[in-house]
Amino acid sequence: MNNFLDIDKTSPADLRAMIDNARAMKTARNGRPKGTPDDERPLDGHMVALIFEKPSTRTRVSFDIGVRQMGGQTMVLSGSEMQLGHGETIADTARVLSRYVDLIMIRTYEEQTLLDMAEYADVPVINGLTNRSHPCQIMADIMTFEEHRGPIAGKKVVWSGDGNNVCASFIHAAGQLGFDLTFTGPETLDPEEKFVAEARARGAAITIERDPFKAVQGADLVVTDTWVSMHDPQSARERRHNQLRGYQVNDALMAQARPDALFMHCLPAHRDDEATSSVMDGPHSVIFDEAENRLHAQKAIMRWCLGK
Ligand code: CP
Ligand code: NVA
Repeated sequence: MNNFLDIDKTSPADLRAMIDNARAMKTARNGRPKGTPDDERPLDGHMVALIFEKPSTRTRVSFDIGVRQMGGQTMVLSGSEMQLGHGETIADTARVLSRYVDLIMIRTYEEQTLLDMAEYADVPVINGLTNRSHPCQIMADIMTFEEHRGPIAGKKVVWSGDGNNVCASFIHAAGQLGFDLTFTGPETLDPEEKFVAEARARGAAITIERDPFKAVQGADLVVTDTWVSMHDPQSARERRHNQLRGYQVNDALMAQARPDALFMHCLPAHRDDEATSSVMDGPHSVIFDEAENRLHAQKAIMRWCLGK
C-alpha cells in the first residue's frame, strides 16, 4: 500500500513508472467513448472516497471518471457536509472511512490534515491539493510535456507569478526528475526556501530571477497559475494583483522563450490577469491537454497506491 502525498516523497523510479503507465493507459483508450470502461479493470469491486474541503472541477471529475473507467465506484464527499466539518477529528474520520472504502483522495487546506489522514487510515491516501502542494497536477503536467516534447530531464521550466502550491510541486518534480526550474516573481511571493534547497540538494538548478523577461530566455516551458489561490484571503487580492501584474504571461513574454516553448496553466484561470487569452488560446498552449491528462495520470497514481 502506497500513499501519494507529494512528489518529493515518492521515488523517481515510481514517478517515472506512473507517468509511463499513464501514457500507456491513455494510448490503450484511444478513440473509445469516454463513458466506457477500460479493457483492464484493476479497480473492479473497489470503492474510492473523494473528499473536497475546497471547490474543484478537474480533480473531482477526472478522479470520478478515472475510477469508473478502471471498474471501481466512487463517493464524492464535501468536507462541510461531513462530521469532519463539525468537529470530528481527522484521525477518527480516517479510521471510520477505512472500514468502508479502499482508497481516499482528499483536497484540503492544511497539509497536516492530509498527513493525519494518511497516518490514521488503513487504506492509501492521495493528495488532491493542499495549501502547500498539488502533486497530481504536476504528474499530469510532466506527462503532457513529454507527450509533446520528449523527456523533461535537462529542460528549462520557468514559473512566472506566485510561488504557490502548484509551483511547489513543480519544484519537487525538478528535484526528482532532473529538470531546471527558474522562478520569476516578487520576493514577497517566493516559493518556500525549504523546497528550493531540497531540489537543489537533489541536483536540480533552481534559479530565482526577478526580471521575467530575463527569466524566460531559453525556456522550454512557461507556467503560471492564479494570483489568488483558494486559501488566500480575498483581502489580499488587490495587493497580490499589484505585485504580480509585471509577471503576466503575454505574447511579449512568450516571445522571449524558445520558439517551440510550451505554455501551461493548471486551470482555473483568470483570463487576462496571470495570462492573456492570446497565450492561453495560442500556439504554445497545452492547457487542455493538461486537463485531460489529469485523468490518465491519476489512474496510474491510483493503481500504484493499490499495487494494481
Ligand atoms: N487544476 C485543478 O486542480 O483544478 P480544479 O480546482 O478544478 O480541480
Ligand atoms: N493555486 C490554485 C490551484 C487551483 C487548482 C489554488 O490553490 O487555488
